[in-house]
Amino acid sequence: MAHIQLKGISKTFGNHAALKDLDLEIADGEFFVLLGQTGAGKTTTLRLVAGLEKPTAGQIFIDGQDVGDWGAAERDVALVLQQYSLYLRYTVRENLEFPLKAPIRKTSPDEIKAQVDRVAKTLRIEHLLDRKVDRLSGGEMQRVSIGRAIVRRPRVFLMDEPLSALDAKLREALRTRTEEPAGQSGGNLPVRDPRSGRGHGNGRQDRRAQ
Ligand SMILES: Nc1ncnc2c1ncn2[C@@H]1O[C@H](COP(=O)(O)OP(=O)(O)OP(=O)(O)O)[C@@H](O)[C@H]1O
Ligand SMILES: [Mg+2]
Repeated sequence: MAHIQLKGISKTFGNHAALKDLDLEIADGEFFVLLGQTGAGKTTTLRLVAGLEKPTAGQIFIDGQDVGDWGAAERDVALVLQQYSLYLRYTVRENLEFPLKAPIRKTSPDEIKAQVDRVAKTLRIEHLLDRKVDRLSGGEMQRVSIGRAIVRRPRVFLMDEPLSALDAKLREALRTRTEEPAGQSGGNLPVRDPRSGRGHGNGRQDRRAQ
């Protein structure tokens, strides 16, 4: 569960203002889509929530806690980027296992296998599990990237246009999946908590901001 609030967020790079006084509140479990033209600051907003960037001004709250001093790992936010961030010389399975193998997680080998198989099934990449990532198509890589973000059940799940390279049928399947109570899969959302799947309109976002 994660409620997210951005209060008066500004971000400047040099003398360029990427974001100016942004206020945003996203409810726990809400499927929220942020739209805007290129350069509007969408990716910057996601990076700020994930803790990869510090705001120039303003505060970010996750479940009411000011996370300004928290690092990315402490925030437990998964971010799927526009660009793939996969280990190209490893197999799909190894890429999916990686987030579960972090020493602090202490996930058992059986549990790791179950989680990876579950995500692979949802994303329809079961047949690719033993293939090296550099032998995949763009859309397949995108699915593996999403898989890597959702396999560890993060507190907040952010996606930066990750569905653009997927075909329409799979995109719809993924959106529908997010409606399932235990669904861990993606939608075209920048912000969503995948652990609570209640009350979403079928395949649509709850709200969107432009
Ligand atoms: N590290 C950086 N250094 C300097 N300028 C940056 C940096 N990151 C982003 N910007 C600038 O901030 C603005 C917002 O960038 P951002 O990547 O958030 O846009 P976006 O809405 O995600 O655009 P797109 O739809 O093209 O992905 C842009 O003008 C961009 O050039
Ligand atoms: Mg962007």
